[in-house]
Amino acid sequence: MTIITGITGITGITGITGITEITEINPSLLLEARLAVDGPFVNAAKVSKEIKRYSNGKARMRAFVFVRDGKVCGYVEVVGIDDDFPTGAPSMTILKGFGHITRIGVVESERGKGLARELLDEAIRWLKSKGALGVWLDYLPSNESANRLYFRYGFSDIIEFKDLRNRQRRIAAKRF
Ligand SMILES: CC(C)(COP(=O)(O)OP(=O)(O)OC[C@H]1O[C@@H](n2cnc3c(N)ncnc32)[C@H](O)[C@@H]1OP(=O)(O)O)[C@@H](O)C(=O)NCCC(=O)NCCS
Repeated sequence: MTIITGITGITGITGITGITEITEINPSLLLEARLAVDGPFVNAAKVSKEIKRYSNGKARMRAFVFVRDGKVCGYVEVVGIDDDFPTGAPSMTILKGFGHITRIGVVESERGKGLARELLDEAIRWLKSKGALGVWLDYLPSNESANRLYFRYGFSDIIEFKDLRNRQRRIAAKRF
């Protein structure tokens, strides 16, 4: 996989394919990706605030976007070593020193082609470079695609809990 970094405004340029890191010169790509995957209910103002944090090189979080022929197809967002578990989940000392995949998504027309796997690879490469011991994430057990993706990628389920909206959630993790 080609890693593209530091390219401004690549959207719309045909022929460029690969994973690019969100920085201060290409921030709109993440909003584009979130809108393409998650639809019009995305809170653009909130995403813009998050993008500011991602594109600050010193921040302990990163976002990567997958671009195919200039079109955004998916994204992953990751926080370096993160012991801040979701509301409702107990604190888990076994995950101390692990990084956290906070969001991942691929546009519907590009699913099932291995893009999420490549995005996870990229996020994990970054986490390893920061000295993380592993990675954790949380998901809804009712989300079959997410279930399959994480299981086949080698994540193991750690715990189930109910979030503030009384939804069953699950934390899964993978040690490096
Ligand atoms: C979950 C999601 C990110 C998967 O993206 P994807 O690009 O289709 O996943 P991949 O093609 O990389 O699949 C990776 C593995 O999971 C399996 N998989 C993923 N989705 C699957 C599905 N719907 N049915 C069967 N298998 C699936 C693939 O077989 C593949 O396994 P393999 O590499 O061993 O063959 C995508 O469905 C999505 O964006 N869903 C909506 C947003 C979402 O739910 N995000 C996760 C929130 S926790």
